[in-house]
Amino acid sequence: MSDRYAVFGNPVAHSRSPAIHAAFARETGQDIDYGRVLAPLDGFAAAVDAFRRDGGRGANVTLPFKREAWQLATACSARAASAEAVNTLRFDADGGIFGDNTDGVGLVRDIEVNLGQPLAGARVLMLGAGGAAAGVVLPLVEAGVRLLHVANRTAARAEALAARHAGAPVSGGSLAAIDGEFDLVVNATSASLGAEAPSIGRARLVPGGLCYDMMYSAEPSAFLVEAARGGARIADGIGMLVEQAAESFFLWRGVRPGTASLLAGLAQPWRGSRLGR
Ligand code: ATR
Repeated sequence: MSDRYAVFGNPVAHSRSPAIHAAFARETGQDIDYGRVLAPLDGFAAAVDAFRRDGGRGANVTLPFKREAWQLATACSARAASAEAVNTLRFDADGGIFGDNTDGVGLVRDIEVNLGQPLAGARVLMLGAGGAAAGVVLPLVEAGVRLLHVANRTAARAEALAARHAGAPVSGGSLAAIDGEFDLVVNATSASLGAEAPSIGRARLVPGGLCYDMMYSAEPSAFLVEAARGGARIADGIGMLVEQAAESFFLWRGVRPGTASLLAGLAQPWRGSRLGR
C-alpha cells in the first residue's frame, strides 16, 4: 500500500498540494498517496489524530490551522518555533509528531533560485505582520538580508513581530511611515483577497528590484499591477507554493524533487517579468 499523506485545511477544496505532490512522487519514483482533509474548524487535532491512526505518515497544514499544528507537534524545527506555526507534520514510528514550517525556505528558494534575485545584503520591505509574514522572517534573516522592515496597517503587530527577532536586522512600523530604498518588497498581507493594494508609503524600489506577492493568482494582484506600473519586476507566490511543497516532500521522503519543470507549467507568463516592458 502507498504511504499516505494529506493537506488539512478549511477550506481545502482548491488546494493544489495533491497535484504538486503527485508530480513529485512520479518524478522521484516514490510511492505515495496524497489527499485532502477538510477539518472542522473546531476539530483539527481530532482529524489529524484519526488520519494518523489510520496509517497516515504526514500532513501539510494550511489556513486556519497552522498555529494549532504547531501546538500539536511534540517537537519542531527552529524555523517552526520562530514562526509559531507549522505547515508540515511528520508522524514518526515512535509516536512523535515532528512539526516544520517550510514556507519561509520556499519563499527564499523561489526568490534566489527561480527568480535569480540575491537576498544576501538585500534591503527588504515586508508588508503585513500576520501569520504569513511571521512564517518567513527567520529564513529571510538567515539568507543574509541587510535589513528587513516589517510594515503593517496595525503598526503594533509589526513592532511585536520585529521584537521577537531582537539582535537581527528586523524593524517594524506602520504602512504610513514606510520610507527608504529597497531591493525587494514582499506583500504578506491578505489585501489581495479583497483586490486591494496595501500602501507602500514613500518606499523606493531600486532599478531591477522585485515586488513579490505571497498570494498566487491567474492575473497579477492589485499590488503587483501597481508595482509593475512603477517599473518593478513582479512575481506571485506560485513558486513559493511549489518550493515549500518540495521541502515538505524532502522532510517526509528524504528525496528532493526537482521543481523547475513543474513550476514552468504552473506559472503565469507574466511571472518574473516587467509587465508590458
Ligand atoms: P495571514 O495568516 O494570512 O497573515 P492574518 O494573520 O489575518 O492572516 O493577517 C493578515 C495581514 O494582512 C495583517 O497583516 C493585516 O493587517 P492588520 O494586522 O492591520 O489587520 C493585513 N491586511 C489585511 N487586509 C489589508 C488591507 N486591505 N490593507 C493592508 N493590510 C491588510
